[in-house]
Amino acid sequence: MQAVRIAELTGPDALELIELPDPSAEHLLTPGEGVVIDVRAAAVSFPDVLQSRGLYQFKPELPFVPGAEVAGVVIEASPGSGVTAGDRVAAMTMIGGMAERAVAAPALTFALPEQLDFAQGAALILNYHTAYFALKLRGHVREGEQVLVHGAAGGVGTATLQVAKGLGARTVAVVSTEEKDHVAREAGADVVVRSDDAWREQVQALTDGGVDVVIDPVGGDRFLDSLRALREDGRLVVVGFTGGAIPEVKVNRLLLRNTSVVGAGWGAYVLSKPHLSREIGAEIDRLVASGVVRPIVGARFPLARAADAMRLIDERGALGKVVLELG
Ligand SMILES: NC(=O)c1ccc[n+]([C@@H]2O[C@H](COP(=O)([O-])OP(=O)(O)OC[C@H]3O[C@@H](n4cnc5c(N)ncnc54)[C@H](OP(=O)(O)O)[C@@H]3O)[C@@H](O)[C@H]2O)c1
Repeated sequence: MQAVRIAELTGPDALELIELPDPSAEHLLTPGEGVVIDVRAAAVSFPDVLQSRGLYQFKPELPFVPGAEVAGVVIEASPGSGVTAGDRVAAMTMIGGMAERAVAAPALTFALPEQLDFAQGAALILNYHTAYFALKLRGHVREGEQVLVHGAAGGVGTATLQVAKGLGARTVAVVSTEEKDHVAREAGADVVVRSDDAWREQVQALTDGGVDVVIDPVGGDRFLDSLRALREDGRLVVVGFTGGAIPEVKVNRLLLRNTSVVGAGWGAYVLSKPHLSREIGAEIDRLVASGVVRPIVGARFPLARAADAMRLIDERGALGKVVLELG
């Protein structure tokens, strides 16, 4: 099979297309347990870019095939995995997804809803499960509340806007360009403000005094204004740091208006809790069925151009999800 390989940690330029043996039952993750997938679409995400430089928390041994998430058709599945050969699935592979065939754990393999194509399927698990986890389980968003989303036109951002709408929230998007403004609106933003404007003052005016929840995959120097944009009993959910700097909190700010700052680390947390993954998957399926979740795929590349796909994210140019299409 064809696969993308990283043999040195020098960023997207290091990606190369190579031939590898097909994975089969003997490559299953734990003895006798796993799903082998004929990959039709593989996601490219911000963490892949970090991983290509050795800057992500999960550091595979070199050389490795990157790719945490795919959609495709099951070739072979261990008994009890819940899927069988021929099923359309979306799955977290964690590693090895940027290849014609990949292996996933049954607990992280989900039936692909019929409403979605393979590219949308490759955009479904990481971002939408993270969005639900951050909004509902960590941010405790309730119907009628107002939710502000940073990096709102990106992968996590567009997913968060859609899931927040599905939970009955009013949504406020923060983006950096006109093009991203359009994408955020397409994803369901009720209000869009620009990060290079006086966005915090605008949010305060447009939300009658502030939002209930901030979902923050960006961090950096906008963190303090995010705290100020919250109303009483507000929750700021930390999801990532695309802005580079890791912010610090002066805790007196939390006391003044009963503010909570909480982390949302989805991946490692759900790995040991397969029942929770299933529950979140069922909620996402419900939101797909109701029509509110439709992953936005902003760019599609062939497998051979995986490096270009990563560069697009690296240069802050991604709109929605970036996907490699195979077959
Ligand atoms: N906690 C978890 O469980 C979890 C799960 C998945 C992902 N993540 C993290 O979430 C973050 C977002 O991932 P993603 O896939 O949504 O990325 P993405 O599609 O590239 O979107 C990231 C957004 O961040 C904003 N941004 C601000 N400053 C930036 C900079 N200097 N460089 C690049 N982007 C910048 C951009 O929006 P503007 O240009 O509009 O500002 C961009 O649209 C990453 O840090 C990722 O590691 C966390």
